[in-house]
Amino acid sequence: MRRPIIAGNWKMYKTLKEGQDLVTILKRDLYDIEAVDIVVCPPFTLLTYIADMLEASTIGLSAQDLFWEDEGAYTGEISGKMLKDAGCSYCLIGHSERRQFFGETDETVSKKVFAALKNGLTPIVCIGENLLDREKSLTFERIKSQLDKGLQGLTKLDAEKIILAYEPVWAIGTGKVATPEQAQEVHHYIRSWLTQHYGDDTASSIRIQYGGSVKPENIAGLMAQGDIDGALVGGASLKADVFSCLVRNTLKG
Ligand code: 13P
Repeated sequence: MRRPIIAGNWKMYKTLKEGQDLVTILKRDLYDIEAVDIVVCPPFTLLTYIADMLEASTIGLSAQDLFWEDEGAYTGEISGKMLKDAGCSYCLIGHSERRQFFGETDETVSKKVFAALKNGLTPIVCIGENLLDREKSLTFERIKSQLDKGLQGLTKLDAEKIILAYEPVWAIGTGKVATPEQAQEVHHYIRSWLTQHYGDDTASSIRIQYGGSVKPENIAGLMAQGDIDGALVGGASLKADVFSCLVRNTLKG
């Protein structure tokens, strides 16, 4: 049985004070949740501070991106080694906004996955089709190509350490959530791809989150689907009461 995992991707929101206020309330409101892994993904500047706050808590810490080298003359970049040092346990990789605005490709995703694993971080690898792909019925083709290239060369042992996040680009920040059936169809496809490459046991152990306009109102319906193991949440993770409610509703699915 896969343990549900809900991650809040704060994107480029929250000053230090705002982030600390949010985490203070989450710690208080979610202290009794045992059946769900909860993760927050603050911007880089907040990580060390939030790590301190989460020390005695079950809430995990993720970065939103990393560079694949451990150190070097790469102005503006942050390495997996630094993120581990800052207290992170997870790292988002290949989020569609990074692909869209910052030239992230499946090839860079692959390098980053290895860098995260090497530094003991759990990669949360984001994949998903855009609106044009979906309209042209190219969803599965896009997903297959992202998996083929992004997870290229990953051993079975390493594959067991990753988390995947399916985020249809057309559903991110648009209020257009994929229906639970639409999401399940792609999650099932992803799991079949994993089975083909890593066998049944590994495929059934890997968690696949759904992301794209997830709210307290729709999380249970998504979680009721067989291959949906949690959510990567944007907008609804920025308010403590909304995110707490979403986490609680996860258990109703
Ligand atoms: P929204 O939940 O705001 O649609 O964002 C989804 C997302 O991109 C999470 O990584």
